[in-house]
Amino acid sequence: MAQAFDSRYYSELEAILFDREKKLFGNLSRNEIQSNLYQNELARKIAVEKAIPKKNHNVLLHGDSIVSSVRYVGEQLKIEEPLLKLIEYSALMHDVGKIKIDSALLESDKVFSRTSKEFGELMKHAEYGAMIINPYPFENCFSYVAEQVKHHHENINGTGYPSGLRGNEIPVGSRIIRVSDSYNAMTHPRPYNHVMEKLQAIEEIISNSGVLFDEKIAQIFCEYILREKN
Ligand SMILES: [Fe+2]
Repeated sequence: MAQAFDSRYYSELEAILFDREKKLFGNLSRNEIQSNLYQNELARKIAVEKAIPKKNHNVLLHGDSIVSSVRYVGEQLKIEEPLLKLIEYSALMHDVGKIKIDSALLESDKVFSRTSKEFGELMKHAEYGAMIINPYPFENCFSYVAEQVKHHHENINGTGYPSGLRGNEIPVGSRIIRVSDSYNAMTHPRPYNHVMEKLQAIEEIISNSGVLFDEKIAQIFCEYILREKN
């Protein structure tokens, strides 16, 4: 049963990625793609780092802390370069839209007394991030990154934001970031949460697998965390 699920999961994923890669890169050679990506990545990194006021610098640092688990999950899903590189970059930049959110709102520990207007404003960071990464109205190397960033708060059952996408409609990089980002939020102190132990956080991920998180990705992610030394 699990094997049937796995092979269907992988063949659907492969078809989605193949289609996307063809649309994005057309007939470019692998070397041309890599060099395009490298130049764009460098330019974008410099621009974003300059734009981030010091008080919000943790927006990028937070991205750093999930990159290695995101790459691991992508490798296990057999996602190849250059898409894997783009997904890794999406993980690094996923919360960059927070630079457009009022820092008082961002750092507030009054999470339970936030108004729905304030929640609505916070939720906009996903779309802001996509616009920062790819402000152009045409397809280019960063369209893919912008797409992953825009949907990193979608839930597998369709209850997430900004678009309420479900299942395979959610870009695979966003699905990976969703799990890794949630684990990171559970296990690191934030103004609004208590820090969970590793096993408690894993239990939380598993209990929300198939609800908030992609089942396969949640499983691979938990294996990765359990293999870590501490
Ligand atoms: Fe986010």
